Amino acid sequence: MTGPLGAESVAYAELAGRVRLLIADGRIPAGTLLPSERELAAQAGRSRTTIVAAYRALRDSGHLVSRQGSGSRASLPHLAEVSKRPDAALNFAGSIPPPVDGLRELIVEVTAALPDITAFPGFDLLGNDGLRAAVADRYTARGLPTSPDQIIVTTGGQHAIALTAQALVRRTDVVLVESPTYPHAFEAFRRAGARMVATPVTAAGWDMDHLLSTLQRVRPAIAYLIPDFHNPTGASLPAQDRARLVHAARAAGTMLVVDEATVDLSIDRPWDDGPFARHAARDGGATGSGVITLGSLSKSIWSGLRIGWVRADEAVVRRLVQARPAGDLGTPPIEQLVGERVVGRMDELLAGRRRFLRGQRAALGAALARHAPGWRAPWPDGGLSMWVQLDRPGSSALAAVCRERGMSLSAGPAFSVDGSLERFLRVPFTAPLADLDRGVRLLAEVWAQLAAGTMAAPAAR
Ligand SMILES: Cc1ncc(COP(=O)(O)O)c(C=O)c1O
Repeated sequence: MTGPLGAESVAYAELAGRVRLLIADGRIPAGTLLPSERELAAQAGRSRTTIVAAYRALRDSGHLVSRQGSGSRASLPHLAEVSKRPDAALNFAGSIPPPVDGLRELIVEVTAALPDITAFPGFDLLGNDGLRAAVADRYTARGLPTSPDQIIVTTGGQHAIALTAQALVRRTDVVLVESPTYPHAFEAFRRAGARMVATPVTAAGWDMDHLLSTLQRVRPAIAYLIPDFHNPTGASLPAQDRARLVHAARAAGTMLVVDEATVDLSIDRPWDDGPFARHAARDGGATGSGVITLGSLSKSIWSGLRIGWVRADEAVVRRLVQARPAGDLGTPPIEQLVGERVVGRMDELLAGRRRFLRGQRAALGAALARHAPGWRAPWPDGGLSMWVQLDRPGSSALAAVCRERGMSLSAGPAFSVDGSLERFLRVPFTAPLADLDRGVRLLAEVWAQLAAGTMAAPAAR
């Protein structure tokens, strides 16, 4: 069935999109019995037609299994279904930049040294000495004296988050996160058993009163923050607020877990305050005690390297090493060898990354101005995306319909802890230039059709 549909079609697409999100990130665990269509219609104050259409769409995408007599249960789509999805056509879901200029040449150089790799032990929970020393030296050069003993190499930044959550969070601990935030981080803390509290962030920055008073009132065990080119808003926390935050966290007994996966993505931010943990070092702890810093080469260099790390006090590093074998037994040495060379040449490589990001940001800005002038798209001074404010709520419906048209997209609620933020959309500027314009044009077209109620329904399968 194709053809113009009204508000019902918007409602079903939005509902299906929201439920998909909740199932995908584990907030509705697979196997959960969902209400019957009739019950949900009554509970949600929606028509039965809307619920029936939403459930049908969820069954089609593999997120729901319905059996006569035993109801509908949440399900994770089969891998084959996932790979059949049309995401590849226009991928706006992730903000994954291509490999940085110069990486190919560097890999060719490293290849000559590959036979030496057998000199490394095959089993190493901490990481190669050379890479740990290179990472420590870079912190030291950026104003935070660091010894290699404070570094554990992980398999990417996500692993650094998950390992930290697994090692340090006790069930029922409270973890404070920003909202919006990087969704796989709150997933990792939630899976470790944490109860979440959120503090708001917008493209204009943090609500410091809210953040500081929440620390004081709730005294969370951990606060997970992204203070530089925050994903998804692009905001950076000013230096004076960092000092206040460290002070308040220390008073509350809160460990700050600072994710610096995006720290090297400045395009034209007029200041560089160095590593966040410098403020903790100043505020009493000689080595930055009270702050755990997470790093990654994925955004600045290439996510295919799968190199990340944790910088922490040695006692924390020991706890991470102890917890690690339950999940993995070390980062592959070949990638670490590449990582060591990369970190040694970081400044030169980052200059290329900056040029790339500047061009991409300009292209996305131009496409948004051309196709969607009614949306507010604050101009970030770094990072990989724009946190666009739509002119009405409806981000999930937009993402759901775009998905049917071959474009994958992360709606605002994907980044919120409580499913809010329907007025926002993260639009990455990492896609190829031609895709940026085509993608934004499709977004604007679908948005206008949703408003007019003339959206063509997805073809029946
Ligand atoms: C803030 C933040 N931290 C960590 C990660 C994980 O990165 P990776 O595991 O690729 O290093 C991401 C990826 O999007 C991110 O945005």
